[in-house]
Amino acid sequence: MRQLIAGNWKMNGLSAEAAAIVTPLRAGATGLACDLLVCPPFTQIAAVASLLAGSVVAVGGQDCHVNDKGAHTGDISAAMLRDAGATWVILGHSERRQDHHETDALIQAKTKAAIAGGLTPIVCVGETEAQRNTAEHNQVVGAQLAGSLPPGFAGVVAYEPVWAIGTGKTATEDDVAAMHLFIRTTLVQQLGPNGEAIRILYGGSVRPANAGSLLAVPHVGGALVGGASLKAEDFLGIAKAAKV
Ligand code: PGA
Repeated sequence: MRQLIAGNWKMNGLSAEAAAIVTPLRAGATGLACDLLVCPPFTQIAAVASLLAGSVVAVGGQDCHVNDKGAHTGDISAAMLRDAGATWVILGHSERRQDHHETDALIQAKTKAAIAGGLTPIVCVGETEAQRNTAEHNQVVGAQLAGSLPPGFAGVVAYEPVWAIGTGKTATEDDVAAMHLFIRTTLVQQLGPNGEAIRILYGGSVRPANAGSLLAVPHVGGALVGGASLKAEDFLGIAKAAKV
């Protein structure tokens, strides 16, 4: 299974900055042994998709609404993302779970909407530092998977421990191995044999310097990269560390 290296730009990227990231990314992306995806803010999706047209780098959104259109001020639908050139969408990121009080049920509804709209979803799960300190991480992630993934789910899951996001702290390889095995086992229980084929990304302070060891952990199917995806050189450095 090819690893997926996905960049989550979060709320970063004015027009000039977006072009400065994707122009060298496009040039450096050919011949890599992994799949590549960038998820810019909504305002840059069409421009980024146009700059990357015909390249191996796919484009995704960072959220979508459960409905495909209607009276939902400020929201964006899966159909709109598709129309702008996206083929992927990140859902249930911990920043949305926190800032927008997104529940597992809402994330499941968004996941269904994304699939119906022709997007491949990346559904994020992960425990807080307090939950890890009280050894609740498996229980928390298990509940998130049970609640957020619709029956027959065939997208991507991203494990992002909240305490590792943007902090420079990464989970140890042993912790990543244990959690990714737990997620794999849960996916197979939940989805049957199809759960074996789902890529499970690790996210949280992935950098070129730590990517090689994280991407070598069993059941790690790639990386969801925040800060380091804002520099083409760093993002490509992570992609070059992908395992075949
Ligand atoms: P980070 O973010 O790489 O900046 O820690 C990861 C993410 O939130 O997807």
